[in-house]
Amino acid sequence: MQDKVTIHTLKKLKQIGQKICMVTAYDAAFARIFDEAGADVLLVGDSLGMVVQGHRSTLSVTMEQMIYHCSAVARGTKRAHVVVDLPFMSYQSSTDEAVKNAGRLIAEGGAESVKLEGGEEFAEIVERIVRASIPVMGHLGLTPQSVHRMGGFVVQGRDEETARRILRDAVALEQAGCYSIVLEGVPLELAQAITNKISIPTIGIGAGLHCDGQVLVCYDLLGMIPDFKPKFVKQYANLFGGIQQAAQAFFGEVRSELFPDEAHSFKSKTIRLVTSNPEPEPASERDEKAVYGVPV
Ligand code: KIV
Repeated sequence: MQDKVTIHTLKKLKQIGQKICMVTAYDAAFARIFDEAGADVLLVGDSLGMVVQGHRSTLSVTMEQMIYHCSAVARGTKRAHVVVDLPFMSYQSSTDEAVKNAGRLIAEGGAESVKLEGGEEFAEIVERIVRASIPVMGHLGLTPQSVHRMGGFVVQGRDEETARRILRDAVALEQAGCYSIVLEGVPLELAQAITNKISIPTIGIGAGLHCDGQVLVCYDLLGMIPDFKPKFVKQYANLFGGIQQAAQAFFGEVRSELFPDEAHSFKSKTIRLVTSNPEPEPASERDEKAVYGVPV
């Protein structure tokens, strides 16, 4: 195994110009697959509210759910850095709440850093969490927890004024102590300007090719939700079709009695198989015998 990825590794990757690979994971099995495939960072994203739980937004995801999924991902990961989202309303209402909840995600969830959405207005909260020795990743641009303010999941920073505001937010987050920033749903020119301006790594999703790294939601890159294919997603597999085919093969073999065969069955030297239905016995005698046969 290569060395464990830390926030310092990520800063070095930016310095040497090597792209950072991040992907979401929500359970131990997927975490292990991506970890062994070479992911630098696994994000336990609150996108789980949409792709795992089937909600239309991330807003209903709770702290308990994030801790549950995060601890599973942490158990499945050896090398990658594990970062977890602070869910909606776990950090917005007070600095104390934010520090306490960030601490729970580290202590109970096993994460190594936390991510939160928002700019300059969250600088003080970022500072306080960082002062508690918890590394923070920022998230700017299309921030899904602000879906109602944005009026939908729409690209941000297309005009000069909002682009300048997002650039200022990135600088403020770096100054507040963030070790990295996700840029979501912004024009590539803005992502490039931010990436050049700040010294911490930017990780893009729908933010073009100039970011220091890229992230995708794992269900999207694996093609598990066939009717969701926005412009910024590239499907590297068709697991919806692949998994469906495997399931259909299983159902077919069960119905045609090809599965299970002897190779997939346990055998006993001491139990004689009942090959035809015997005459029904009185319940009292029947209960004393084995379920699948009669001990000899
Ligand atoms: O929740 C999530 O998966 C995210 C990514 C889209 C960056 O925040």
